[in-house]
Amino acid sequence: MIEMRLADVAAVVGGRLHRTGGDERVTAVEFDSRAIAPGGLFLALPGERVDGHDFAAAAMAAGAAGVLAAREVDAPSVIVPPAPRSGLASMAGTYLADSDPDGSGAAVLAALARLAGHSVAALPDLTVVGVTGSSGKTSTKDLLAAVLDPLGATVAPPGSLNNELGLPWTALRADAGTRHLVLEYSARGPRHIATLAAAVPPRIAVVLNVGSAHLGEFGSVGAIAVAKGELVEALGPEGVAVLNADDPAVASMATRTSARVVTFGRSRTATVRAQDVTLDAGRARFTLVGPAGRASVALRLVGEHHVGNALATAAVAFELGATPDMVAAALGSAVPVSRWRMEVTDRSDGVTVINDAYNANPESMRAALAALVAHGGGARRIWAVLGLMGELGDSAADAHAGVASAARDGAVDELLAVGCPAYGVPPEDGATRVRHVAGVDGALAVLRAELGPGDVVLVKASRAAGLDRIATALTTALPAGTS
Ligand SMILES: Nc1ncnc2c1ncn2[C@@H]1O[C@H](COP(=O)(O)OP(=O)(O)OP(=O)(O)O)[C@@H](O)[C@H]1O
Ligand SMILES: [Mg+2]
Repeated sequence: MIEMRLADVAAVVGGRLHRTGGDERVTAVEFDSRAIAPGGLFLALPGERVDGHDFAAAAMAAGAAGVLAAREVDAPSVIVPPAPRSGLASMAGTYLADSDPDGSGAAVLAALARLAGHSVAALPDLTVVGVTGSSGKTSTKDLLAAVLDPLGATVAPPGSLNNELGLPWTALRADAGTRHLVLEYSARGPRHIATLAAAVPPRIAVVLNVGSAHLGEFGSVGAIAVAKGELVEALGPEGVAVLNADDPAVASMATRTSARVVTFGRSRTATVRAQDVTLDAGRARFTLVGPAGRASVALRLVGEHHVGNALATAAVAFELGATPDMVAAALGSAVPVSRWRMEVTDRSDGVTVINDAYNANPESMRAALAALVAHGGGARRIWAVLGLMGELGDSAADAHAGVASAARDGAVDELLAVGCPAYGVPPEDGATRVRHVAGVDGALAVLRAELGPGDVVLVKASRAAGLDRIATALTTALPAGTS
């Protein structure tokens, strides 16, 4: 962030100073008192178990410059006014939910958003690149960080910090030396992306796809498309909208923006496209074609779905001055950064485990199954260990049945459904054996007894299903080779 005095922070967020004249220098913002370093501004946020206001003294002991708080604490601080239940505060209200009965957390988050917007606006050499979509935001964010960093210092969030806390927190990590700020804009409801984009507006906005993640909250895929398109609506005429030409719900967002539109995809009409896509053990190779020429790309990430993520990344990089060769080289050396997304471990006994237990929705399930089968390459026994896909509302039963049938059509040999009867039973004559186990321990019992050399196993479910325990147990039981 730009360096600010505590008094400047108070002015920007509309707060009042408490126990200070406001001369302290603020150079960073932290919500975890253990992460505070000298110059840090500590955000006092209510949590499920503890209230950040109780940690103000610990933050000061760690060298904090002050505290951003909703009520008076015994420290130099900026006390923010109650936030009206609109805009970011109402969004934050849903995020903090039960842990924020009096709206104090929402008020601190609203102040944080203002601070982030102020700091980013004061950095004229910074380009904000925003990413949204139903699947692949974090993967694309990681690819963007890998490809843009050689062009100029790049800040991107660790993991999936993409909500009303993580997004402004990440934005405040950009300083005068930063050239690119990559942000994920996520939504659990209408106007969430618009609200985040109003706080920290992107200049280049990528929309990856419109799928059925969070369908339960949104009600329809059409409503999800409306929400994802809020990111390109936030662009001005100087902006660039990077849209997926292969997804009609995304391509049609071109009419919803005043920005210049660049498209990516497999389609021949896309501005940035992939030709001659082949898979090698599930890893894609293709010819990257852009306005400035072409180059051969060999991805190290597993899954054909990464072709789209890589093309979106290339389209952004071309806008920022990269050549096709630079982009191809950076894409080809990018390795998985964020955990539990198609993380491949080759065990010393010849079993391969693909840990995609971070999250799941019908589209990412299909993408992961396709990658699994491609990785298996026909000769290996293929296992899909699948758990519940959450937040799908009324479509849940059909969605699980559809994934089970995709697994059967895709030549999965063994489908192990964990705590999820919705995957159903296969037709008698099917080549896929479908078994149901009640939970993680039951699944591990089957897998430990039956996995043999050459088998390849995908583990995937929504985060809440906790299937990461299966993947972790499978990969730590034996020494791992390289992935
Ligand atoms: N372009 C894509 N199309 C379909 N599935 C994808 C795509 N990119 C990634 N996936 C799948 O979705 C999973 C989640 O990827 P990632 O974490 O990048 O998405 P995300 O949009 O950040 O998700 P979340 O909203 O849960 O944070 C991956 O492990 C992979 O299985
Ligand atoms: Mg994510």
